[in-house]
Amino acid sequence: MKGLILAGGTGSRIRPFSLYTAKQLLPVLNKPVLFHNIDLLLAGGIVDIGIVVGPMKDFVVEAINNSVYSELANIHFIEQPEPKGLAHAVSASQVFLADDDFVMILGDNLFTVDTLDLLYVFENSFTEALVALVQVEEPKRYGIANMENYHIISVEEKPKVPQSNWAIAGLYIFKSTIHEVIRNLKPSHRNEYEITDAIQQVIEKKQTVTPYFLKGYWRDIGTLNDLFDINIDLLQDINLEGTYFEALFSSFNLPVLIDKTAVIINSVIGPNVIIGPNTQIRNSQISNSIVLENTLADGVNLDNMILSPWGNREVSR
Ligand code: G1P
Repeated sequence: MKGLILAGGTGSRIRPFSLYTAKQLLPVLNKPVLFHNIDLLLAGGIVDIGIVVGPMKDFVVEAINNSVYSELANIHFIEQPEPKGLAHAVSASQVFLADDDFVMILGDNLFTVDTLDLLYVFENSFTEALVALVQVEEPKRYGIANMENYHIISVEEKPKVPQSNWAIAGLYIFKSTIHEVIRNLKPSHRNEYEITDAIQQVIEKKQTVTPYFLKGYWRDIGTLNDLFDINIDLLQDINLEGTYFEALFSSFNLPVLIDKTAVIINSVIGPNVIIGPNTQIRNSQISNSIVLENTLADGVNLDNMILSPWGNREVSR
């Protein structure tokens, strides 16, 4: 079993941050989303991991090279020359994937999932593909699976009139037979090669596509508001005991998560604040906000904000 993480794309919806970093490197609980997804694969014993990269390739490569993952996994970078859809990214990865089954993760999605359980379900259901599903309130925004007695009978990408509210979350497992299906795929109306269309063709061939109903947390990080939401949501669940950081003349209203390399002087922090590595906060009051790596803040009074070295962005919940 191999892993494939799709981390191409330009991140146009998270400008201006996407001008300075890859979307998949933005942090959730002070760890890049990409690293959460690599951890998801490693938890299932998957160490051969392809990362599909686009224009922000250099940032992704540098982040991996400076991390433990360059040792924990065999990481292959695969260039997708143009962002022509998820199935197109798979075909760009075919040499790496060869004849192996593979778990595919959309690199801007974040999940809490039991990887061993996911793999167990795939391996025991004699299926061509597995798709993770989640019930959503706005099915028009997603790929949707139509179900009958908990079996997938069809899938459709962003239907205008959704027949179900089961969204395809960005987590799939495929057999290598998917490559043949993708080779014969026609582009969609948005001129992309859609993985959802490939899955529909598998169903039309009367082969099984197994649903995997996600029990944990799932979020597609499309916008900076999504990034903010997921951080604050997950912050509520973590155990902050034993966190250590340097602080002088400051007070903290929990929950806060503060990297051990942060320096905080004469400030009031929290509630609901996450402060990243190599940051300095002085003479400030910050609540309901996240502070990205390498940010300096002095004399500010901020609420509902993402602070970054490239400027601040207001967010809301
Ligand atoms: C993609 C997929 C869609 C899926 C979604 C999950 O959409 O095409 O089927 O439901 O990711 O995040 P995108 O976010 O690229 O519009």
